[in-house]
Amino acid sequence: MWLNQEFILKKHPIVIAIDGTSASGKSTNSKLVAKALGYVYVDTGAMYRTLGWYCLQKRVDIHDAKAVATACRKWKTSLECVETKTHLRAVHLLVDGYYPDKEIRTAEVSATTSLIAAVPKVRDWMKKKQRECIQFGDLVMEGRDIGTNVFPDSNFKFYLDAKLEERTARRSADGIHENLAARDQRDSQRAAAPLMIALGAKVLDNSKMTSAETSEWLLTEIRKLMQPAK
Ligand code: DC
Repeated sequence: MWLNQEFILKKHPIVIAIDGTSASGKSTNSKLVAKALGYVYVDTGAMYRTLGWYCLQKRVDIHDAKAVATACRKWKTSLECVETKTHLRAVHLLVDGYYPDKEIRTAEVSATTSLIAAVPKVRDWMKKKQRECIQFGDLVMEGRDIGTNVFPDSNFKFYLDAKLEERTARRSADGIHENLAARDQRDSQRAAAPLMIALGAKVLDNSKMTSAETSEWLLTEIRKLMQPAK
């Protein structure tokens, strides 16, 4: 009897779901894990950020849920799997054929994104797009609701967290000064798919860990889950 029959038989692509609070090291570690396993990396936060940026560009009232939902229904997007300069295969969501890589990382876009991410129709749209990513193969997908909502049947669910002071210091070191506590509160208190620990997720507080240690912990746990049951 195998612990993880789906993995052994490889009926479906594998999805490793990595959720957690802002600046808990999801991106760095998801990329390290994806590279180590040869999986495709999906940054779902970037997808929400792209819509936040798009709404700002098009002067959509971000406090008007209906207007945001309409923009999301109408924008012209496509998914593509690219190989980055660092040889990571990653999925990008393009809008009008463009991936706003740098533009989506500003504090203004961060604040806007946590508002538009609370709109239920936006979350429905994103969930559908994120599920389409399995067309590219086995995935490491990071976000807030991957284990709870997008791929709840995944056998590989993780939740990363770190103390607020540590997370704030990490963002400042990247030159970004933002109110993480306010963003965490909005992300975890919204009605639609709030940030929470998925059932069966393995939880890690990495406040005192380096990213090398965090990614090693993740890879060890993933390999254990991939082992046949004794
Ligand atoms: O991970 P990030 O900081 O790039 O995410 C940007 C915002 O998008 C964040 O406020 C939470 C939201 N988000 C979400 O609600 N669900 C996801 N799966 C990913 C991000």
